[in-house]
Amino acid sequence: MWDPATYLRYGDERSRPFHDLVARIPADRPETVVDLGCGPGQLTATLAARWPASRVLGLDSSPEMIARAATLGAPVEFAVGDVRDWRPAPDVDVVVTNAVLQWVPDHEELLRRWARELPAGAWLAMQVPGNFDAPSHRALREVAACPAWRDDLVPLLREAPVGDPVGYAALLAGAGCAVDAWETTYVHLLPARADAAHPVLTWMEGTALRPVRAALDAPRWADFRAELEVRLAEAYPARQGQVYFPFRRVFVVARTGARVEENL
Ligand SMILES: C[S@@+](CC[C@H](N)C(=O)[O-])C[C@H]1O[C@@H](n2cnc3c(N)ncnc32)[C@H](O)[C@@H]1O
Repeated sequence: MWDPATYLRYGDERSRPFHDLVARIPADRPETVVDLGCGPGQLTATLAARWPASRVLGLDSSPEMIARAATLGAPVEFAVGDVRDWRPAPDVDVVVTNAVLQWVPDHEELLRRWARELPAGAWLAMQVPGNFDAPSHRALREVAACPAWRDDLVPLLREAPVGDPVGYAALLAGAGCAVDAWETTYVHLLPARADAAHPVLTWMEGTALRPVRAALDAPRWADFRAELEVRLAEAYPARQGQVYFPFRRVFVVARTGARVEENL
């Protein structure tokens, strides 16, 4: 289950890649804009602000996220649904999917299908975290592999749920798209307080730790969380009241059917 409030705790840091991604979509007056895996919807609302004449749709599989999005009163049609079942209507000319596909196994096949089914000239923009080899995720996998938790947790954690920019670029170019792909490592400076949990732990509770929390009862979760926090504090020590948290992200903006005619 997604908890919008926990997810929004680092809203400023989490929203920046979305804006950096969307800044690379030069669509002028799209007819229909779709945000796949829109979460709590506040970023989808910025799409409606950028393209006020467009129909804007937000889709997410979490009823909690969509309930939160509906409270915004934004000019966006929000709906509960799975991105794997979504099929583009002929008038869709911008698709954004930000920080979602890491949760979707075999999303490469989905990207190929979207590139095939979207009308020629549509924009397909995606961003996924590329930090699965970072100390935070290595610590998560190490603690999960301890005898106390491994039977419950190891099957839940995938080593590399995303590809790299070159792989996605090749995939979408192979599907006939013109492609703009890049990666960025943001250094998030997270406030650290002696009387509060380690901020990288708090960050991970909003995303990567959700399946772990759901798989353990309260006492085992408390033990797991305490053990992980020790390792995170070693990997990300506080300096002058803050923790430096590097976070790599992978971006791709593709234009369907445009590979031969133009370069982005
Ligand atoms: C990290 S949040 C990102 C939310 C939003 N795009 C943003 O940038 O803030 C991931 C979202 O993906 C949604 N999600 C994960 N798998 C999904 C799927 N198969 N279909 C639809 N939504 C999915 C989750 O419910 C969650 O809201």
